[in-house]
Amino acid sequence: MKWCIIGAGGIADRRAIPGILKDDGSRLVAVMDRIVETAETVGRKYGVPYFTDEADMLSSVDCDAVYIGTPVFCHYEQAMTALRFGKHVFLEKPVAMNAEQSDLLVREFEKAGKQLTIGYMMKYHNLHEKAKELVQMGGLGKVCEARAQFTCWYPEIAGAWRQKKALGGGGALMDLGVHCIELLEFLLDEEIQEVKGFCANRTFSYEVEDGAVFAFRTESGILGHVDVHFNVPDAASESKLELYGSSGCVICKGTLGQEETGVLTYLYAPQGEYSAQQNRTAAKPREYYGENVDLYCKQIQRFRETVESGAPDYFYAKRAVQVQKVVDELYKQNEKI
Ligand SMILES: NC(=O)c1ccc[n+]([C@@H]2O[C@H](COP(=O)([O-])OP(=O)(O)OC[C@H]3O[C@@H](n4cnc5c(N)ncnc54)[C@H](O)[C@@H]3O)[C@@H](O)[C@H]2O)c1
Repeated sequence: MKWCIIGAGGIADRRAIPGILKDDGSRLVAVMDRIVETAETVGRKYGVPYFTDEADMLSSVDCDAVYIGTPVFCHYEQAMTALRFGKHVFLEKPVAMNAEQSDLLVREFEKAGKQLTIGYMMKYHNLHEKAKELVQMGGLGKVCEARAQFTCWYPEIAGAWRQKKALGGGGALMDLGVHCIELLEFLLDEEIQEVKGFCANRTFSYEVEDGAVFAFRTESGILGHVDVHFNVPDAASESKLELYGSSGCVICKGTLGQEETGVLTYLYAPQGEYSAQQNRTAAKPREYYGENVDLYCKQIQRFRETVESGAPDYFYAKRAVQVQKVVDELYKQNEKI
């Protein structure tokens, strides 16, 4: 698969291009960035031609797929440009500025029969796959609660697109919350149906929220909550994911992020009769560890295999639209931001 890159400087250079290069069936053929110095530096680094205009690149270079790693406000137009050139697209999360725009984009790709994959790579983490397997085999009994906490330290930075509503579409919720929603829905294999939440600017005074917390209820009635923050130091963050059920629990620590790291603790402790003693140490937990495989490469490989199969798959792209609906609803509830 021959790849072109739109938005070469950030996550593309750090994670996506290295992921493409590690995949035996993929090859990088050109990069494009709006900033000429970035385009040139990245192009030279990987030994491929560089451009500053996406249409220029796509009309001069032969490629099968386009990876888009630009700020959110660019996603819709650039994905549509790539589609007009007949390309399959791997688009970074979140899909677009809101659910309506996201839905439109997915429909256009489906109509054209081109693959559209959104960069929610955390579901390929071996410990998240393990957590899903435990849920599916009934290892937690009837799941009743799901939680995710994801934070990073993101102080005011002059010119940062993520700190402007018109460029990023929102703050911590749009940037980190979307990962949590997508991952929880993957693990539970069902969607969030109802949410109630708060957004705040507790620490920083930029335009978008620096923290958000919400409670939810899924289709089958699982309750849960998500906390996302731009204002907790990286070293102080637990970034935890927890699932509880009638027979046990799964707790993942250090698994939410860009690497396949962390530990999953699984406790199987079904309990028959009520016990007033409430013995909390009766069962022995088991631990599983991250395998340190490149998550971006895994997602690139799945994307390529889907394209090669000739049967485009829109399940997760549609799920990503539903994720945006949850975010839209929470922003509506907090309209003052
Ligand atoms: N899946 C993940 O793990 C992950 C991690 C980080 C970022 N992201 C997503 O990736 C996207 C980019 O985030 P980032 O952190 O890399 O941002 P960034 O600002 O660090 O990098 C974006 C790059 O795009 C370039 N750019 C800006 N406008 C452009 C345009 N109109 N055309 C072409 N290039 C343009 C910039 O010059 C820069 O090189 C966002 O959607 C973000 O949410 C995903």
